Amino acid sequence: MIQERHRAQQRGKDPTTIGCAVRQQFEDTNTRAAAAYVGDRRELYDRLKLEAIVDSAVNLCVTCDPTVARGHGLGRQTMPETAMYSAVCAIQNCWLAARAEGVGVGWVSIVDADALRRILAIPDHIVIVGYLCLGYVSGFDAEPELAVKGWEHRVPLADVMHFDRYGTVDPLRAQGLTQTCDPATRKGSR
Ligand SMILES: Cc1cc2nc3c(=O)[nH]c(=O)nc-3n(C[C@H](O)[C@H](O)[C@H](O)COP(=O)(O)O)c2cc1C
Repeated sequence: MIQERHRAQQRGKDPTTIGCAVRQQFEDTNTRAAAAYVGDRRELYDRLKLEAIVDSAVNLCVTCDPTVARGHGLGRQTMPETAMYSAVCAIQNCWLAARAEGVGVGWVSIVDADALRRILAIPDHIVIVGYLCLGYVSGFDAEPELAVKGWEHRVPLADVMHFDRYGTVDPLRAQGLTQTCDPATRKGSR
């Protein structure tokens, strides 16, 4: 990561200047986002660190070209949006690989895509999928930070599992299914 930053500087690009422009864009967007909250929730929102644009070693803007001929349109004639979903899967794989190497990843979605497009000179037909900050971090929490800080709580998996038809939840069936998939209990259920 550090090498890539160095190479970018050698090529005459100043990642710091670009980073500052993106950071400023985040600040502007975040001011508007924060205004949606009041009282305790607003106080909590203001205490959250929601980006690491200039602190992180690498910023990565992941884009998708929906017009690309590669793949000959397989699966995209019926669901063209899967091109973007594939890019999201790539982000997730990058996230898992980074985590395995002790590198933290943060997704910054509190930015205006049009402004980001202008800053990074991204052509109009290219879809901006995600803006990531990658870098070594002081540590990884055992629990999701937003849960620890009381912003939102994890919902039971059974609450979001729908059987046969959307809207049909069945806690017992969900429990059975999750136990079947759990490596710790799979052996005993055979
Ligand atoms: C689509 C998406 C957008 C996100 N946008 C933001 C964001 O704007 N700011 C933020 O702090 N976290 C955002 N997050 C959450 C964090 O990037 C991430 O979940 C958090 O840093 C915890 O990462 P970890 O599970 O690797 O520790 C977003 C996550 C996703 C999946």
